[in-house]
Amino acid sequence: MARTEQAGWKEDREFPFTREDFETVRRLVGEHTGIALSDIKSDMVYSRLTRRLRATGCGSFNEYLERLRSETSEELDHFVNALTTNLTAFFREAHHFDHLAETALPEMMALAKDRRLRLWSAGCSTGEEAYSMAMVVRETVPDDWDVRILATDLDTEVLRHAERGIYDAQRVQGMPQSRLRRHFLRGRRAYQGKVRVKDEVRRLVEFRRLNLIDRPWPMRDRFHAVFCRNVIIYFSKQTQRELFEHLTDYMRTPGWLYIGHSETLWQVTERFEPHGRTVYRMVG
Ligand SMILES: C[S@@+](CC[C@H](N)C(=O)[O-])C[C@H]1O[C@@H](n2cnc3c(N)ncnc32)[C@H](O)[C@@H]1O
Repeated sequence: MARTEQAGWKEDREFPFTREDFETVRRLVGEHTGIALSDIKSDMVYSRLTRRLRATGCGSFNEYLERLRSETSEELDHFVNALTTNLTAFFREAHHFDHLAETALPEMMALAKDRRLRLWSAGCSTGEEAYSMAMVVRETVPDDWDVRILATDLDTEVLRHAERGIYDAQRVQGMPQSRLRRHFLRGRRAYQGKVRVKDEVRRLVEFRRLNLIDRPWPMRDRFHAVFCRNVIIYFSKQTQRELFEHLTDYMRTPGWLYIGHSETLWQVTERFEPHGRTVYRMVG
C-alpha cells in the first residue's frame, strides 16, 4: 500500500531536465574544463545550474544551453564556476606540508645556488592550499630568499575569494596557536568572526586564472614543487596523461609533485617516481 503511494510520488522540479540536457552539459563541461561528469552527477548539475537559469531569466534548460552556445564568454564563466567542485582546507592532507618542510624545501635550498624557489598550487580553489604552502615557506626558508608561489584555478569566483585572503575563523579551527598568531590577523567590528592571512604570507603568492587543459601554459619559470591535488580526479585518464606530460616541461629535475589522497599516477605517467603517500618526484 505504502509502496503504491510512494510509486505515485513525483519530484516537483522547477525546470524540466532531460537526459539530452544533461548530455549537452556534460559535453560542454568536458570541452571547456576537462572535467568528466559521471551519470551520478545529474542531480548536482541540476541544482547548481537552476541558479544560473534563475539569474539569467531563462525559462528552461534548453533556452539556457542555447544561450551558452551563442554567448562568447561571460555566462560560460558562470556556467563553469557553477560546476567546479572547490572543496579545500588549510593544511589539508597535512603530511604533504610536513614533507615540504622537512624534506623538499631543505633539499631545494641545498641545490638552489641562486637562492630562488618557485612553487605552484595548480587548482588552488579559494587559496587555502597556496597560503598553507606560503606559511611553511615562511617557517622554513630564510627571508632573504627569492620565493614565489603561483596559484592558479579556472574558476574566477574562487580566485576572487583567494586574493582577499579573508576566511571564516572556523576554517582555521584546530590550527596550532603559534601558527595562527604568526600568520593570521583576527577580524574586528565588520570582520568579527573572520581571519585574514598576513601580508608577509600573501606577498609570496600570486593568483592567476589558468585552465589546465589550455596549452601551452604561459609560465616561463620552471617549478621546484607542484601541488596538483584533488583536481585530476575529475579528469579522464587521457586528460591526466596529457596534463602530466605537459607538466614535465614546467618542472625542474629533481622536482616534487603532490597529488590528492584518492589520486594516483599509476598507468598515467612514468615520468614521476613515487616517494611515499601521494608524493612524487620527476625523473629526468
Ligand atoms: C577540489 S578543488 C582542490 C583544491 C586544492 N587543490 C585542495 O586539494 O584542497 C579542485 C579545483 O580544481 C579546479 N579545476 C578543475 N578543473 C580545472 C581546470 N581544467 N583548470 C584549472 N583548474 C581546474 C576547480 O575549479 C577547483 O577549484
